Amino acid sequence: MIPVKSFRERRRHLASQMQKGVAIIPTAPEQVRNRDAYFPYRFDSYFYYLTGFREPEAVLVIVAESDEKESKHILFCRDKDLEREIWDGFRYGPGAAREIFDFDEAYPIFRLDDMLPSLLANHSTVFCSLGHDTAWDTRVTGWINQVRQQARSGVTAPARIDDVRPLLDEMRLFKSAEELQVMRRAAEISSGAHRRAMRETRPGMSEYEVEAGLLHEFRRHGAQAPAYTSIVAGGANACVLHYVENNACLNSGDLLLIDAGCEVDGYASDITRTFPVDGKFSSAQKDLYQLVLSAQAAAISAVQPGNSWDAPHEAALRVLVQGFIDLGLCQGSLDTVIQSEDYKRFYMHRTGHWLGLDVHDPGEYKRDGEWRPLQPGMTLTVEPGCYVRPADNVPRHFWDIGVRIEDDVAVTETGCEVLTPAAPKTVVEIEELMQERKDQ
Ligand code: GLY
Ligand code: MN
Ligand code: MN
Repeated sequence: MIPVKSFRERRRHLASQMQKGVAIIPTAPEQVRNRDAYFPYRFDSYFYYLTGFREPEAVLVIVAESDEKESKHILFCRDKDLEREIWDGFRYGPGAAREIFDFDEAYPIFRLDDMLPSLLANHSTVFCSLGHDTAWDTRVTGWINQVRQQARSGVTAPARIDDVRPLLDEMRLFKSAEELQVMRRAAEISSGAHRRAMRETRPGMSEYEVEAGLLHEFRRHGAQAPAYTSIVAGGANACVLHYVENNACLNSGDLLLIDAGCEVDGYASDITRTFPVDGKFSSAQKDLYQLVLSAQAAAISAVQPGNSWDAPHEAALRVLVQGFIDLGLCQGSLDTVIQSEDYKRFYMHRTGHWLGLDVHDPGEYKRDGEWRPLQPGMTLTVEPGCYVRPADNVPRHFWDIGVRIEDDVAVTETGCEVLTPAAPKTVVEIEELMQERKDQ
């Protein structure tokens, strides 16, 4: 768990960057699935990052003053309502929320419209996620207009609306020791789920049975949800990058690609493993698998402070492309294939992304046109792959093989820490684990 004082410290840090201004940050709305059934609720990541508060219908307002001691952290949230709590469960209410989550002030959410104009008065800048939700933008400009109407009484209205997200994205990019602890936990649960899938998968099962095991493993260890829709892709389905139907039969002789990770206390894990449905890699499968594994090892070695964001991708690409040439998938020299991008027939995505509260966490990848350097505390995935669709000029024994291997890593002072080492990935580890299952 991230302690309450860390959320306050994040708000203080944001306020110090705002200098003087008012940030208005709502949590996510509840989403109707159909008629009166709702999707499972997930708070907004920015709001949660600054509050630790998980209830819907809540808004954070930070009033930043030049004298930091005068700044105020204010929460608007649902009022206590014993009648509603009988139906929907516990809600903190402003009194308890203020105390437990350490806000300076807290008010019922219905007070937002009448209180915001006075909170904005005499501040020059409003910070919000402009353009994220047009209905919300309209509300914010409505409050600003109300302040403007008080001009004759000497009140000045904000003249600027700044996007708060770049400030928050940069803060979120660097994980604290506490955040890394939570991410390790998410990674560990997800790794266990992948191990279980390797132990339980047998020819004749369906992809959704394996998916059910993953979800069961996530929840029974206390993860609140999957961090994204699990991909459980047998055989040729592994060549569909965002395959989520998960309803096909798993056949002997095929590989199974699983891209699945859970979310713990808001933080995502994101792991892919690829293994043979019957526990033994064929020779063609092994060729491609070993190639992707070597590319991943090269990429992980390139995750070093000071290296550019792109260094792991470049390292993976060089290994993959040389392998494609050696295996007869691409023709030409390493440099010509890289330059012509012919490799994109088999490797069409990049090698990773930032990871954190969102599976594709925000944060700049480039600054002033240059890939930014990796720095301690940044967390990212390393996920090279290879996907071979049937085509005339492609050796037939590789057709319909899709492989991806994905780990989560944190940049350290000296290199990187792999957060997901407990999910087996060498051919020997995988075959041994799957052999155990046959011995039972
Ligand atoms: N699971 C989403 C991704 O790997 O980016
Ligand atoms: Mn990923
Ligand atoms: Mn993934």
